[in-house]
Amino acid sequence: MTGPQLDGLCVRDLRVTFDGFTAVDGVDLDVPPGDIRFLIGPNGAGKTTVVDAVTGLVRATGSVRFGDRELLGRDVHRIARLGIGRTFQTASVFEELTVVQNLDIAAGATRSWWTLARRRNRIPDEVAAALETIGLADRGDQPAGALAHGQKQWLEIGMLLVSDARLLLLDEPVAGMSHEERDATGALLETVSRDRTVVVIEHDMDFLRRFARSVTVLHAGKVLSEGTVAQVQADPRVQEVYLGVDTAPEA
Ligand SMILES: Nc1ncnc2c1ncn2[C@@H]1O[C@H](COP(=O)(O)OP(=O)(O)O)[C@@H](O)[C@H]1O
Ligand SMILES: [Mg+2]
Repeated sequence: MTGPQLDGLCVRDLRVTFDGFTAVDGVDLDVPPGDIRFLIGPNGAGKTTVVDAVTGLVRATGSVRFGDRELLGRDVHRIARLGIGRTFQTASVFEELTVVQNLDIAAGATRSWWTLARRRNRIPDEVAAALETIGLADRGDQPAGALAHGQKQWLEIGMLLVSDARLLLLDEPVAGMSHEERDATGALLETVSRDRTVVVIEHDMDFLRRFARSVTVLHAGKVLSEGTVAQVQADPRVQEVYLGVDTAPEA
């Protein structure tokens, strides 16, 4: 079975301004196909705004290319149809609907009416596959509202999978999760990145060390540092700004 086409994300000179305040100030990012890129930085660094700009939620200047497509200037729905999916810091699933219904709705966005009619009486293959991938195969009939916090985040990721997202942008997916849920989420990211490109905004350093393939550090709207986990951790500018460690040499 061949998966979806793997593409990378290429951001150039991205700028977002809110009423004269520059929240994203000339960001360049190259996320190669199949990467798990962690985007870190202090609160207010501009991480969420970068994702908002890539997904068309805020106006931005510069260039954002996914594969050979320019995303800037397209509307949110068009960008989603090009295979860009994101989650928000607070999970947004339909609580009263079952897990399968949530996935079905997400899949329906890209499905034609005759496919819907043909499949009405059984769980569509891509929904069944997503249920398995996100580890909720035995929860399909439960209302999403009854899921644990971590499971709701997985359901959201599953909804991106069935909607054919090929670039996943996840905003603090493990916030509030238990250790076990974090481990399961990391394993899920590794599975998903086999045929997709993943960008994760995350604060949890332990989670980052274990699952990041590469890291970009943002500070005050700019890229402060970039590289492997080890490279970024060894960067004195990161220690100073992000970890609050004063690395200035003694006078
Ligand atoms: N819609 C908005 N209007 C005005 N300022 C905003 C808006 N969204 C974000 N900001 C500001 O932009 C900066 C970056 O915010 P954000 O991208 O949410 O940071 P992060 O996700 O790194 O914590 C912050 O100073 C924030 O207050
Ligand atoms: Mg944020």
